[in-house]
Amino acid sequence: MEYLKSDSVRLSEDERSVVIIDQTKLPGKTEYLTLSEADELFDAIKLLKVRGAPAIGIFAGYAVYVLSLGIETEDVSTFLVRIKEYAAFLDSSRPTAVNLSMATKRIVETAEEYKELPVAEIKEKIKSTAIAIHKEDIEMCRKISEYGLTLVKDGYNILTHCNAGPLATSRYGTGLGTLMLGKEKGYTFHAFCDETRPLLQGARLTSYELSKAGIDVTLICDNMAGFLMKQGKIDAVFVGCDRVAANGDTANKIGTSSLSVLAHYYNVPFYVFCPSTTIDFSAKSGADIEIEYREPEEIRSMFYERPMAPDVKCLNPAFDVTDGKLITAIITEKGICRYPYEKSLAELFLS
Ligand code: MRU
Repeated sequence: MEYLKSDSVRLSEDERSVVIIDQTKLPGKTEYLTLSEADELFDAIKLLKVRGAPAIGIFAGYAVYVLSLGIETEDVSTFLVRIKEYAAFLDSSRPTAVNLSMATKRIVETAEEYKELPVAEIKEKIKSTAIAIHKEDIEMCRKISEYGLTLVKDGYNILTHCNAGPLATSRYGTGLGTLMLGKEKGYTFHAFCDETRPLLQGARLTSYELSKAGIDVTLICDNMAGFLMKQGKIDAVFVGCDRVAANGDTANKIGTSSLSVLAHYYNVPFYVFCPSTTIDFSAKSGADIEIEYREPEEIRSMFYERPMAPDVKCLNPAFDVTDGKLITAIITEKGICRYPYEKSLAELFLS
């Protein structure tokens, strides 16, 4: 993407650090961070400097590689223990997006697969896996975007929630990929973009990415979606996802579930854009997905000059689970799945 000097997550030139665009500073400031210490890598995820399920996965792969460089031992067993510790440490930063633990698991598996090699060579194998995770995401986003284009017509008004664009993934994005690719192919879409309380990923990131890409965008508050749907002004809802269970129940940014209920009521297609790295077949349903709870300050005082509410309790779940049966289709890099998802997802990915 033109507004990004390079991918939003990448390995540094000397390959000893992970470079990210600090998403907490956007849209006001484009600041790149170069990270190599365990605590700062952990904090980057925890504090949403890097965010969006696929981007977190790509970041985690590179992060474990970078941390492996600091493990000074020739003993493979000791090395494996340390790699697993780093993987578990990063996994504990945020619980909901499965891409994080999928990526660290893949890195650990790589290290174990090559345990007959000297430590220096295992580190090289880990690097290759981290790069593969990144490259595969670019490819998946492209394919998801192509499938997405088969579901829309030129001139569509698309409602988005949270941010599932290039910043949250690589290149095109998932939820925004259809709009981005469509723009390149000459489609004219209009996006209504939910601001996405409390951390405003829609206002700060989605409206920024879409307008930078030259796509017509109108920012709305989260509670305005029903108003627009009732007037027939929304042709489809596009969202990304953080973890999709085997039955299609989908964890995504808080507010997604209520949007799906509204879309169902007003007969608006509700589409989830999902790379296979976000499907967790070990979760039978949404009940098996851990939801992250975050600090009350994000509701009460963040983005305000002074706290805008009294010092009362705040409840701040970062995600909710949309029932599979309310999802019109789940668009993956291998094709478009429809309800019942136990069957359609398994057919595409487990057969
Ligand atoms: O808390 P965040 O900003 O990491 O939440 C992100 C989302 O909910 C996105 O919609 C999701 O990760 C999909 S990104 C392609």
